[in-house]
Amino acid sequence: NRKQRDAKQEQLKAFKNSNESQSLSTDQGTKLPNTSESLTAGERGPTLMEDFHFREKMTHFDHERIPERVVHARGFGVHGVFKPYESLSSLTSASFLQDPNVETPVFVRFSTVVGSRGSADTVRDVRGFATKFFTEDGNFDLVGNNMPVFFIQDAIKFPDVVHAIKPEPDNEIPQASAAHDTFWDWVVHNQESAHMIMWLLSDRGIPRSFRMMEGFGVHSFRLVNQQGQAHFVKFHWKPLLGVHSLTWDEAQKIAGKNPDFHRQDLWDAINNGEYPEFELGIQVIEEGQEHQFDFDILDPTKIWPEEQVPVQKVGKMTLNRNQDNFFAETEQAAFHIGNIVPGIDFTNDPLLQGRLFSYLDTQLLRLGGPNFHEIPINRPITPVHNNQRDGFHRMTINQGKVAYSPNGIAHNNPQPVSKEQQGFEHYEEKVEGKKVRKRSASFNDHFSQATLFYNSLSEHEKRHLFKAFHFEVGNVKDPAIKQHVVEMFNHVSHELAKKIADGVGVKAPQPLNEEMTQQKSNALSQAQTVFTPKTR
Ligand code: HEM
Repeated sequence: NRKQRDAKQEQLKAFKNSNESQSLSTDQGTKLPNTSESLTAGERGPTLMEDFHFREKMTHFDHERIPERVVHARGFGVHGVFKPYESLSSLTSASFLQDPNVETPVFVRFSTVVGSRGSADTVRDVRGFATKFFTEDGNFDLVGNNMPVFFIQDAIKFPDVVHAIKPEPDNEIPQASAAHDTFWDWVVHNQESAHMIMWLLSDRGIPRSFRMMEGFGVHSFRLVNQQGQAHFVKFHWKPLLGVHSLTWDEAQKIAGKNPDFHRQDLWDAINNGEYPEFELGIQVIEEGQEHQFDFDILDPTKIWPEEQVPVQKVGKMTLNRNQDNFFAETEQAAFHIGNIVPGIDFTNDPLLQGRLFSYLDTQLLRLGGPNFHEIPINRPITPVHNNQRDGFHRMTINQGKVAYSPNGIAHNNPQPVSKEQQGFEHYEEKVEGKKVRKRSASFNDHFSQATLFYNSLSEHEKRHLFKAFHFEVGNVKDPAIKQHVVEMFNHVSHELAKKIADGVGVKAPQPLNEEMTQQKSNALSQAQTVFTPKTR
C-alpha cells in the first residue's frame, strides 16, 4: 500500500521550496537586484539604517540557531517505511500492526548522548535510536537506545547522571567522554548503574555503523487488544546486517580523521540504494506473570533474558530516503514517548513515568512554544482537530467564534471518538498504595545481571572491556574514586575488579564473602548467553 507512505512524503512536499531558479527577493517578496552590497551614504560612506534588505538578512542570520537538545544533541535523521509480518490483532489494536500489506511511513533519528552537536561520531557512548511512526491513528514514537538497560531506575536522577557525565562545569572538559572524575564519582554513588556501565564499556559503546546496531525501547510497555486485554511488552530493533563494533583504537583514529563517520556511512548507504533494514522484535509477558521473575519487570536496569522470554520478530523497517534538509528534519524533529496510539500503553516503570514529563517540557523550550507539532517533520498524517489555539508560531487558521467544549453554537465541534473507533482509552490498571518516596525492594539487586553480562563475553570481548575500564577510569584523577570503582565492580566479578585495579594503579580487592556470592548465584542460574551479539 503505497498510499500511506505517500501521505507523509506528499505532506512534506507542500513545504519544500522549488529547485527552479527564481527571482531574488526579500522575505516579504520584494524583488532585489543585489544581495552583496549594503546601501551606503556615498560609495565609501556608512551603511544606512534604511537598508531593509541588509537588516532582514543579518537579523535572520543572527537568529538562525536554536538550542541544541540537552542530551542527544548530535544526531542524524532518515526516512523509511515499516510493515508488520502478520496481524498482531490478538495482542494490540495498534493500526500499524494489523495488516502486512500496510506500509507505515517512519522517520528515524540516530544520535549520541553526551557530546554537543559538533562532536565526533565514534566516541564511546550510548546511541539513541528514535523512531516516529506516522500511523493512521496518529504518531507513535519509539524513543530507544542501542542498549537494553539504563543508568538509573528513577527519572528524578536523570539531571544528576547527565550533569555528571557532561563536561565538568568549571572548564567544560571533557567533551563527549565518560573518562572523568565527576562521572565515576556519580557511578560509585549509584550502584544501580553497574549493569549499564558494563554495556557502555563493552564493544556496544563503539558501534561500527548506525546500520549495525540493535535498538531497544528499554522500558516495559503494554500492548492492549481491541477486547481491552493487556500484555507487558519490550520492543527491540534487530539490524539485518548484524551487530558490529569498532575497536577502541579504530574509534579514536576515525574520530580524528572523519568526525562525521557514522552520518556519512548512513547517507552514502542510502544514496547507493543499500537500504538499512531492522526487524521489530517484541518480548511479551502475560499480566498474570508480572511477579514470576527474580527481577522486577518494571526495573529499567534489567533485561528480560531472551531464554526466558523469547524475542518474536513481528515486522521490518526499511530506511530508504535521505532527508532534504538537516535543520528542517533532523534538528526540528521532536520525539516523545508520550506520543502514543491506541493499542499501546505505558507501565509504572519509574523511569518511563518521568520521561513522560521531560520530552514535551524540553521541546516547548527548544522549539519555541506549544505549536511545534505543526512543523512539517512532526505533523501527523492524520487530521488534527481540537480547541487548542494561538501561541508562538501558530500556523493553523482556526475558524469560527467558539473555542470551548461543550457548546451549543459551533457546527464543527471536535467530536469525541469511542474506543471501538480507535479513540485512545487508557488501560484500566488498578492502582493503590500510600504516597511514599521509597523504591520497592524488588529493585534492589544491582549486580546479578551485570555479572551475567560479564560471564557471557568471549575472551577478546573481555580484553576489550578491561581496556575500556583502564582508559575510562584511568583518566580519573582522584585515587579514592578509582578505588571505589574497583570495590563496586568486585560485586560484578572479582576477576574484573582485579583487572581494573591492576590497570588503574589501585589496590586489588578481597573476594566477596559467601553470603553475597550466594545472593547473586540464584539469579545467575536463569540464563547464560543473553548478551552475545547475535548476527545473521
Ligand atoms: C532525548 C530526557 C531516558 C532515549 C532526550 C531529551 C531529553 C531526554 C530532555 C531531549 C529531547 C529533545 O530535545 O527533543 C530523558 C529523561 C530520561 C531519559 C528525563 C530518564 C528519566 C532515556 C532512555 C532512553 C532515551 C531510557 C532510551 C530508551 C532518548 C533518545 C533521545 C532522547 C533516543 C533523542 C531523540 C531524538 O533523536 O531527537 N531525552 N531521557 N532517553 N532520549 Fe531521553
